[in-house]
Amino acid sequence: SVLRRSSTASASSLLRRGYSSESHPERKVAVLGAAGGIGQPLALLMKLNPLVSNLALYDIAGTPGVATDVSHVNTRSEVAGYMGEEQLGQALEGSDVVIIPAGVPRKPGMTRDDLFNINAGIVKSLCTAIAKYCPNALVNMISNPVNSTVPIAAEVFKKAGTYDEKKLFGVTTLDVVRAKTFFAGKAKVSVADVNIPVVGGHAGITILPLFSQATPKANFSDEDIQALTKRTQDGGTEVVEAKAGKGSATLSMAYAGAIFADACLKGLNGVPDVIECSFVQSSITELSFFASKVKLGKNGVEEVLGLGPLSDYEKQGLEALMPELKSSIEKGIEFANKS
Ligand code: NAD
Ligand code: LMR
Repeated sequence: SVLRRSSTASASSLLRRGYSSESHPERKVAVLGAAGGIGQPLALLMKLNPLVSNLALYDIAGTPGVATDVSHVNTRSEVAGYMGEEQLGQALEGSDVVIIPAGVPRKPGMTRDDLFNINAGIVKSLCTAIAKYCPNALVNMISNPVNSTVPIAAEVFKKAGTYDEKKLFGVTTLDVVRAKTFFAGKAKVSVADVNIPVVGGHAGITILPLFSQATPKANFSDEDIQALTKRTQDGGTEVVEAKAGKGSATLSMAYAGAIFADACLKGLNGVPDVIECSFVQSSITELSFFASKVKLGKNGVEEVLGLGPLSDYEKQGLEALMPELKSSIEKGIEFANKS
């Protein structure tokens, strides 16, 4: 019918507009750990991103199936799957952004640091390959413990002579996503309008949401703020317990990872005023790495933004997190240099 035809036409023009590639430069994104719980939905979300022209999906197993499946989605990017170490170089070559969700997730009762022994080695070997095959790529580190895996990556790159502090990011976007969701739910405001910086690191008390800087303003009691802070800090554990042994956040993490990678791509493409929180090399505190708002540009980090005014509660939280974050950073550096 006429009606049917016209609705199809408008749907396809919407799609064309949404997925237009003409104005965007070629950008290759590699996902390492692409067949995993995060990797699969993240691969799909990156396939939906019109800023991506080439999507390389790498894992030690399972990538041919994931890549073939995702490749049938009718969006801009060419998808290729790579499996096993001998194909890692090809997966990485020419990448503008490398996203790393490779490694084991937590089970109930574990801390993120309990993953160190396995994930530190995985991250080290993947970063050694990044230094060799795509030393200029922006690296989005998702593998836990982020507070240690980012310093490991930095040390590997330093040893290889490729380290550029502007190009290494610990992905803490999920903390921001959670803070926004929990705040909006409690304040009964539209979550789309909410902004909250989350600073520090990505584990327990090192996750410090700055609800005093939340917009829109809400009239919360001290108890409310404490409960929101605790829920944000324990958000990962909430999911680990609900999954009861089947892993940790994957879907919300894929969403958060896709937002952060999109921000990196926008920055590379010269879009102005792209700001996200991330765990980066930093001089805003005495620690060498710290999460805060970061402005993204054509070379990665354009500016690490300061913390802004803190409430007394947040000042206490900041003081309390420093020793743990310091030792997690040192643990990563030590690991990279001893092995
Ligand atoms: P998963 O076990 O479902 O998937 C991990 C994938 O990594 C698997 O497919 C595995 O084959 C792959 N892998 C293992 N060794 C590899 C290697 N050397 N090279 C390439 N791939 C390799 O786990 P998941 O749920 O996807 O979680 C992955 C990691 O992300 C965990 O460390 C988890 O703690 C972390 N995580 C971080 C955040 C965050 O906010 N930064 C959030 C959620 C999970
Ligand atoms: C999260 O915050 O969900 C991740 O870091 C995974 C975890 O172990 O909690």
